[in-house]
Amino acid sequence: YVIGVDLGTSAVKLLLVDREGKTVGSVSKSYPLIHEKTGYSEQDPAQWVEQTTAGLLDLLKEFDGKTEDIEGISFSGQMHGLVLLDDHNEVLRPAILWNDTRTTAQCRRIVDTIGQERLLAITKNPALEGFTLPKILWVQEHEPEIFKQAKTFVLPKDYLRYKLTGNLHMDYSDAAGTLLLDIASKRWSNDICEAFDINPDLCPPLVASYEETGTVTPEFALASGLPESVRVFAGGADNACGAVGAGILEEGKTLCSIGTSGVVLSYEGSANKDFEGKVHYFNHAAPDAYYTMGVTLAAGYSLTWFKNVFAADESFDELLVDIHSVPAGSGGLLFTPYVVGERTPHADAAIRASFIGMDSSHERKHFARAVLEGITFSLNESIAIFREQGKRIDTIVSIGGGAQNEEWLQMQADIFNADIVRMNSEQGPGMGAAMLAAYGCGWFDSLTECAEAFLKEDKRFRPDEKNAAVYSELFEVYQDVYGQTRTLND
Ligand code: XUL
Repeated sequence: YVIGVDLGTSAVKLLLVDREGKTVGSVSKSYPLIHEKTGYSEQDPAQWVEQTTAGLLDLLKEFDGKTEDIEGISFSGQMHGLVLLDDHNEVLRPAILWNDTRTTAQCRRIVDTIGQERLLAITKNPALEGFTLPKILWVQEHEPEIFKQAKTFVLPKDYLRYKLTGNLHMDYSDAAGTLLLDIASKRWSNDICEAFDINPDLCPPLVASYEETGTVTPEFALASGLPESVRVFAGGADNACGAVGAGILEEGKTLCSIGTSGVVLSYEGSANKDFEGKVHYFNHAAPDAYYTMGVTLAAGYSLTWFKNVFAADESFDELLVDIHSVPAGSGGLLFTPYVVGERTPHADAAIRASFIGMDSSHERKHFARAVLEGITFSLNESIAIFREQGKRIDTIVSIGGGAQNEEWLQMQADIFNADIVRMNSEQGPGMGAAMLAAYGCGWFDSLTECAEAFLKEDKRFRPDEKNAAVYSELFEVYQDVYGQTRTLND
């Protein structure tokens, strides 16, 4: 057996997986977000460790096999979050998370200091509030006493792994989201460290996601019930692990993952392409590979917002029960899902959402359908960027909350104009983490072989020609709305 740990933003999920890729146990434990001020989003790293330990105890209690049969464990982590450690590896301040937006001034400083072109050449990505370097600069500027004591920085799942093994590491796929990694050479960028007075020793040793980083310490074994013999593998960024867990392991494969936020992500064999920073370009958890990715900040969150305001007492199923009776295009009603700003293609934290085209015949079901269409249009903007660069996008694996509703899956096929594939036992990034452990343990010769053994297609949704034509026209209107509404909030 192997264990995949998915250290998310609201909860940690643990999966116990057997040699056939079957999930034989799963546990989830939540922890709170701390929002001290508007735009701030922090978490106490001790809670990640406590809740993972409690989750492991529960998982092993439920498991009626022998714990000695557990060979390996690996991790998927929420990306970008800054954890600063002192010279005893004690946490210096709460972690500043990926969805914290306090760092607009620091992003500007990054571009002013090294220039957009050089930043893109080294990191392949623009300076965005969510990424780690702006958070380091914020602490440097606002909490100099704390920054002086900082000896190492790590990302959330790296801290958790350190508590299992006593060793500090960071893997390439997560390091890629810091803005401190030279993406192509897979080395920390001395140029960037120097430009911002960051001691390069602050950056931890780099490893590949499937590399072994140690075994379980006696203390952690005692607290969690995990045998000391369990091999601990580095793991990766949640989006990279989601890609592994959906089999996005070769050129031409694309993933659509709709949770609170939404991403479309596509495999890249090299770091040589140039998307001009319009989509994120990160190292994959698979050996020597990359992926490009567009992010819709409020994907599932737009639907949750809509439900909370207009259907608070109903379930999502009840809210969406009659959207099939609304034609494609929602009778002229159009929604843009910018309720908390946007990332791709408009990196604009201030833009706000809109409903346009209402008429007196519209009922709530039209609004509900328009929300799903708007979220999907937003993701289609990233797909359009991929296609503009010549990428072939004809089959997309859909996972997460957005894959739970068949009407929405069909809508994805029609709007993306591509086949949408649903997997039979989708377990997201946690399954990707388990696969990294399975590969690391030597169960398979490659991650692709592991994916062939573990992952099966459940159902395929093909584009309906008529609906695809309606959406293609409407998409042009959708793309105009941002330009027309961007100043509304000024
Ligand atoms: C990616 C990003 C989010 C987090 C969520 O750039 O910020 O997808 O990884 O955990």
